[in-house]
Amino acid sequence: MCGIVAYLGRRQAWPILIKGLQRLEYRGYDSAGVALLENNFLKVYKKKGKVEELVQSASLSDREGTQGIGHTRWATHGAPDDNNAHPHISQDRRLALVHNGIIENYALLKKALEKEGHYFSGETDTEVLVHFIEEIQNRDDLSLEEAVRIALTRVTGAYAIVVMDRNEPGKLVAARKASPLVIGLGDGEYFLASDATPIIEYTNRVIYLNDEEIAVVTLADGPQVRTMNNEEQTPFIQVLDMEIEQLEKGGFDHFMLKEIYEQPGTIADCMRGRLNVEQGWVRLGGLDDYLNRVVQARRIIIAACGTSWHSALIGEYLIEDLARIPVEVEYASELRYRNPIISEEDVVIAISQSGETADTLAAIELAREKGALVYGIVNVVGSSIARLTHCGSYIHAGPEIGVASTKAFTGQVTLLALMALTLAHRRGTITESYFRRLVLELSEIPQKVAKVLESNAKIEYIAGEIKDRSNALYLGRGYNFPVALEGALKLKEISYIHAEGYPAAEMKHGPIALIDENMPVIVIATNKSAYDKIVSNIQEVKARKGMVVAVVVEGDEVISGMADYVIEIPNTEEPFTPLLSVIPLQLLSYHIALMRGCNVDQPRNLAKSVTVE
Ligand code: G6P
Repeated sequence: MCGIVAYLGRRQAWPILIKGLQRLEYRGYDSAGVALLENNFLKVYKKKGKVEELVQSASLSDREGTQGIGHTRWATHGAPDDNNAHPHISQDRRLALVHNGIIENYALLKKALEKEGHYFSGETDTEVLVHFIEEIQNRDDLSLEEAVRIALTRVTGAYAIVVMDRNEPGKLVAARKASPLVIGLGDGEYFLASDATPIIEYTNRVIYLNDEEIAVVTLADGPQVRTMNNEEQTPFIQVLDMEIEQLEKGGFDHFMLKEIYEQPGTIADCMRGRLNVEQGWVRLGGLDDYLNRVVQARRIIIAACGTSWHSALIGEYLIEDLARIPVEVEYASELRYRNPIISEEDVVIAISQSGETADTLAAIELAREKGALVYGIVNVVGSSIARLTHCGSYIHAGPEIGVASTKAFTGQVTLLALMALTLAHRRGTITESYFRRLVLELSEIPQKVAKVLESNAKIEYIAGEIKDRSNALYLGRGYNFPVALEGALKLKEISYIHAEGYPAAEMKHGPIALIDENMPVIVIATNKSAYDKIVSNIQEVKARKGMVVAVVVEGDEVISGMADYVIEIPNTEEPFTPLLSVIPLQLLSYHIALMRGCNVDQPRNLAKSVTVE
């Protein structure tokens, strides 16, 4: 995690860096800091807390300078205080450095440096790195880039860094390994950042630095890219298709609410050009060249984390139900450490909104080593996972800024539905008429999502009934079981109410002991199959005085007569129900969090992009 940003040009760096940090705050908000370089003089501003606190604390200081680096932190080594905040400075106060990642061998390096007389003011691995670069630079009187290169060949771990040297103004040195870094090319000015969101306002021409590359950016020559072995590279300049409006709240109070409301559009964008109702076809361009291999896969393994893991579970139901290929869903973090059986006959699907999650990246590397074909389902264009996989498809949800994932989830599920339909059609596992019905139904999902959003006021009212509870239980069956997990996760993440998702039938094996008048139970009861069983589950909750909020299909009179509160969603084919049933749960957690005074977009301790293991 952590977000880094840097500027080199002719404008004042401070406002550009601050705005950039605010755009990157989704990556961490434990502390923020900026270093500016002006007339061979380094000025450093650091503050515990959010970027706004840094702005307040520096409001009376001189913030002049046309070159600078900035950082917003998600603490790993060392408490989230002013001292451990980045940028970190070398002992001679010549170098300033910002870092996203973890230097694993920092303890050994620290000991060795202490013997050489280095003194450390904090506990971070990053402070060790900047002292280490300083030591190498001073010992042999090296240029900044050469010292950085040598230092990085001796550290283990993950990093994206930007460094500047008081004695070499007009130059920034950046490098990456397993943490992202983008360089924006302006007109005589350069922007560096963890992702393109701080850059896009100034230029859409960017270079994504590859793993183990170093970039030296100077005002005179622009970026020069080399490998760690000092081989010159010709960087690929990408032109991004991103609008600044996508990064702003557009009249909504929070990014999360905006993103929930964007879903009719983002689901349609995910399907655009990939499905044709009149002609009755579904096509995923990213799958074309590998379709035979996927169709013949012995099994499919889906690896992901967090919300993406929940969409993976729905992918399992979709692919097994429609295409009849065995699917296993793995937490990426478990897959990588448990010596799994993966062979060349397997296909691994990696799902990730950010495309940067460290555990998912490591799982992909493992799958590749074992010879599996790896397919990526990713939102962020040009991200590490998009580049590391053999093939894949973007979900085209646009930037997701709220830390709690919403539109990326429905984008992932839509993509998995398209994939299941493609595979099912090719394998002949469903009839042509059912296939056509599903294609038609999927195409109508965006309007139906818009319809669900019309229940917002009612959901807000129900939120008021739940907001003061300490626990909540979410129940669902079949396709709605992963939705129950996702609903519970949303509530936990942003309202800090303890919530659990369970398969409805499992309630009697444990959670039923928790049910009393204080326990709200949110039941997703839209399944046509096992409907009677869900009705029984609701009765079991009511018999123990639990409060039932049921998500039902429009016109359901049976459950409406039993539940305390009912939220209706339009009817759809069962495999696509999650795309509708998750929407009220997203809104419910949003309103509950808001009523509890929580920071909806930036919940405590969480970060959107988890680039540490
Ligand atoms: C973090 C985020 C979650 C996200 C998970 C996986 O925990 O807070 O919202 O689902 O990472 O992230 P990915 O980018 O790989 O989907």
